[in-house]
Amino acid sequence: MAQEKTEEFEKAQGVEKPGKNKAMEAGQYFDFFEHEAGMFNTVGPKAREIIEQDCKITSACTARPYPLVVDSAKGSVIRDIDGREYIDLVAGIAVMNAGYSNPEVKAAISAQLEKMTHCGYGDFFAEPPVKLAKKLSELSGYSKVFYCNSGTEAVEAAIKLAFWKTKRQGLISFYNSFHGRTLGSLSLTCSKARQKEHFPALRTAHSHYAYCYRCPFKLEYPSCGIECAKELENLIFRRELSPMDTAAVFVEPVQGEGGYIVPPPEFHREVRQICTDNDVLLVADEVQAGCFRTGPFLAMENFEVRAEISCFAKALGGGLPLGAMLADREIMDWPQGVHSNTFGGNLLASAASLASLEFLEKENIEDRVKELGSQMKQRLGELQENFPCIGDVRGLGLMVGVEIVKPDKSIDPIRRDRILREAFKEGILLLPCGDSVIRFSPPLVITDEELDSGLEKFQKALKKAGI
Ligand SMILES: Cc1ncc(COP(=O)(O)O)c(C=O)c1O
Repeated sequence: MAQEKTEEFEKAQGVEKPGKNKAMEAGQYFDFFEHEAGMFNTVGPKAREIIEQDCKITSACTARPYPLVVDSAKGSVIRDIDGREYIDLVAGIAVMNAGYSNPEVKAAISAQLEKMTHCGYGDFFAEPPVKLAKKLSELSGYSKVFYCNSGTEAVEAAIKLAFWKTKRQGLISFYNSFHGRTLGSLSLTCSKARQKEHFPALRTAHSHYAYCYRCPFKLEYPSCGIECAKELENLIFRRELSPMDTAAVFVEPVQGEGGYIVPPPEFHREVRQICTDNDVLLVADEVQAGCFRTGPFLAMENFEVRAEISCFAKALGGGLPLGAMLADREIMDWPQGVHSNTFGGNLLASAASLASLEFLEKENIEDRVKELGSQMKQRLGELQENFPCIGDVRGLGLMVGVEIVKPDKSIDPIRRDRILREAFKEGILLLPCGDSVIRFSPPLVITDEELDSGLEKFQKALKKAGI
């Protein structure tokens, strides 16, 4: 493969110098899959045809790492349009926690479909969103629920609630964070400069997250004393954004898009304490880590920390679009008309969500996630011994990241993407995150056999990627 072409592809994926890049046009993805990566030899003629049409007609702003054209799915296995099967080790980006075509979720959707799909829940009342709210309250301990349709909307709602509640307009989030792409949540997002280029922002300061593998302070845990969390107070509040102007600190329990970064437990406790001491709200963005992905329903429970507000989406809808912002009554006490939307609490999505959560609870999923997560980390740790390009294996529950590095431990996104494409050819679906990380976030119901087979294929992909 021509080196320049590979680099061009990397650029299109967002690993580029801000301001100096030229985005790859959608049609160029087609050419890349066709000529350079040989990916169309893997998929069939129908996939090729659909991708050709897609590239002509849909916006080029989304980045696709390989030419998968899905058709149907069951459990953890996706069948593409030409009949080729893949083990999905990313669950449709941490969405299909209860598995594809889960019979209980399907039955709940079908039953609701027979009755009514949409009612304008912002204007009327209905039973499914109320039943779901009770379940969310039971699982989370929060007493109030606000519904929307996506992660970015849940974060926007939290920004507005924090502004409304505190009458302040400053925000804080962390480097490498991802909170969404609409303009409010994008102000918090600090993952890739490309995502923010040319867009205006709300007043937001960024602080360092506990990325221990690449400590921003070049310190070692635990002797570091969690210097990164203390930066909030020692630097941000003193020099950049007064707590008197700060409505809330937004934090992901485990950073997702930024590289599957798991902080030590003291990090969140320290951040919590600083927020309390300075009378600033803490918002947990549980969009990717929540809904049992890391074991407990709230990923923050792993750290014994409670935020005033928590945001959910992705897995919440059981495969349908649904977001939610949760808080206690004393926080979510804004009056009628301050915030709303058309589709939040959609009847089908609420029915799917409730069925999915009930299914996961019934399966005792927290224990299963912890067990499978530690098995997965152990297996990937064993691979690390034989593949020096694996610099770090980290994770919480079934949110596991593998950081790909050069011999000097610097990032190696080109090799990372080569591994991803080889993995696709082997029949597993993986996705990139961070600068040089491969993420594993399979359906929580993945079987032992599927996981074994998936990891064997990953090992083959590592070999084929020429390491
Ligand atoms: C932690 C986190 N917050 C917010 C979002 C945005 O969610 P959505 O894509 O549904 O807008 C994401 C998406 O990846 C996420 O991982």
